[in-house]
Amino acid sequence: MPKERVLSGMRPTGKLHLGHYHGVLANWLKLQDTYDCFFFVADWHALTTDYADTHAVNDNVREMVLDWLSVGIDPEKAVIFLQSSIKEHAELFVLLSMITPLSWLERNPTYKEQMAELREKDVHTFGFLGYPVLQTADIIMYKANRVPVGIDQAPHLELSREITRRFNHFYGEVFPEPKTLLTEVPKALGTDGRKMSKSYNNAIFLSDAPEVVTQKLLQMVTDTARMKRTDVGNPDVCPVFITFHVIYSDEATKAWVRQGCQSASIGCIECKKSVIQKVIEALEPIRQRRLELEKQPEIAAQALAKGAESARVAARATMAEVKKAMKLSAI
Ligand code: TRP
Ligand code: SF4
Repeated sequence: MPKERVLSGMRPTGKLHLGHYHGVLANWLKLQDTYDCFFFVADWHALTTDYADTHAVNDNVREMVLDWLSVGIDPEKAVIFLQSSIKEHAELFVLLSMITPLSWLERNPTYKEQMAELREKDVHTFGFLGYPVLQTADIIMYKANRVPVGIDQAPHLELSREITRRFNHFYGEVFPEPKTLLTEVPKALGTDGRKMSKSYNNAIFLSDAPEVVTQKLLQMVTDTARMKRTDVGNPDVCPVFITFHVIYSDEATKAWVRQGCQSASIGCIECKKSVIQKVIEALEPIRQRRLELEKQPEIAAQALAKGAESARVAARATMAEVKKAMKLSAI
């Protein structure tokens, strides 16, 4: 049995944080051992919202790839590449855009939400509306069977399946319908208690040095009902517990926290200190590898070049089939 093919992409947002690690990368690490994986940097997708100011794109790509490699995404196991280096994605995007009804894109819930959310940016563009069409091209280009996504991205994938069916209906069965590989995304809260996000300035980055991690965690908000040391608290609503103890502490420590917090026999500082060391120990090897990789930028560049070579072979083969099916091959 050939391995099932998995494909996933990330928009280059720069340095990755613990939310990315537990929500996406930890999963990719497992997948690369069992599936035929393609992981790519969706730099064109980054332009759908950040088209006006592109000065950071290159740096963001580099930082993100350094993080991928530092956590152990392995170019020997998975094909990793940059979307814009495979021009076939643009070609397939054009063809898919011809058959995608506008109404499908307009009713996409993610589109509507983002339109409302990104109020400071003007996203009334053709590219932004077409985001899921480009994403579909990314996926079916490699005939991926499985796309690991969190529940929030599920509507996009449903749309990809619909576009794929429509293509196959018009031109013949060229593409398998991509299925979701639903990933459980543990809740990662930032130092202010909101969702961990670079734009909220509340993130702990994979590349943060031990003293930075310590500082950030010591300043992190706790159960807001626990104002004074003598107040009892509830770990189940405390961002420190939800995001850090749940992932990094052993059962005995968690029981100690629960008991101590609910009876006010321990203070928040003491509680935080019991997990800070664990977080640092988990991050240190990643950070050390990253420091090495930063000194040899050619390693990351070569990984992307090697990945692009494999991706290009697959993409060309698919486009030859597509053109044949659509009767677009030259005389
Ligand atoms: N939409 C994804 C994100 O926001 C990026 C992406 C682009 C993607 N194309 C994809 C993910 C194809 C999975 C499959 O990060
Ligand atoms: Fe949170 Fe720990 Fe303070 Fe309880 S003691 S509120 S779990 S930091």
